Amino acid sequence: MDLADFFAMDKLSQHDEEQLLESAMQLQQMMMLYEAGIREIKTKLDILNDESRISGKPSPIDSIKSRIKTPRSIIGKLKRRGYPISLQSMMENLNDIGGIRVICPFIEDIYTVADMLMRQDDLTLVDRKDYIENPKPNGYRSLHLILEVPIFLSDRTQPVHIELQLRTIAMDFWASLEHQLRYKSDVKVPAHISDDLKACADVIAATDEEMQRIAKELHVL
Ligand code: GTP
Ligand code: MG
Repeated sequence: MDLADFFAMDKLSQHDEEQLLESAMQLQQMMMLYEAGIREIKTKLDILNDESRISGKPSPIDSIKSRIKTPRSIIGKLKRRGYPISLQSMMENLNDIGGIRVICPFIEDIYTVADMLMRQDDLTLVDRKDYIENPKPNGYRSLHLILEVPIFLSDRTQPVHIELQLRTIAMDFWASLEHQLRYKSDVKVPAHISDDLKACADVIAATDEEMQRIAKELHVL
């Protein structure tokens, strides 16, 4: 049944209509849980930021972005990975329905923010991938955390998984452009271009180290 049929409600039997509404409501509820999870973590990050501001220290956070995966992209990923298409399967098998990106000024800020979050006992670390210690072969660098956040509802507590990507301004510059180039290009990126992109990532990483050294020498970090 395609979308046009859904909206021509008179074509739906009473049973189909009930089913459609039930699925729509469940999806809406699930999205609400992820929005709540994102809000909880963002509030924690805002508090950490306020704390540094008040104590007159430079903030370890430059900016925060967040997004919720669209239903189309959720279903696409479940299909690609061979998982069943259901709400339960989405919540169990995907960790990146709700995502937060934390952009930090310096490399050390990333670990400061991650450690500050890890000390909070309502958050559970589900997975940690350090692509700064171990960059991807293409040069991608960031710290990825999957956090379990409890959402307190009227009658139960529902845990959700939220993906956190922490990176410096410089790492974000590279990752954003590399992503654009890869997706906008209609041809498969040739090997020599991948090498060029990797070289850019390595130059940026060296610059990040240098800026951090300068910040330390100036006692800003
Ligand atoms: P998936 O998101 O399911 O692919 O998970 P995974 O466990 O293989 O993920 P990983 O932690 O490696 O990457 C998750 C996310 O990090 C991606 O959705 C991107 O947002 C980002 N990412 C990972 N690798 C790259 C990369 O090479 N370039 C860019 N621009 N972003 C990347
Ligand atoms: Mg992803």
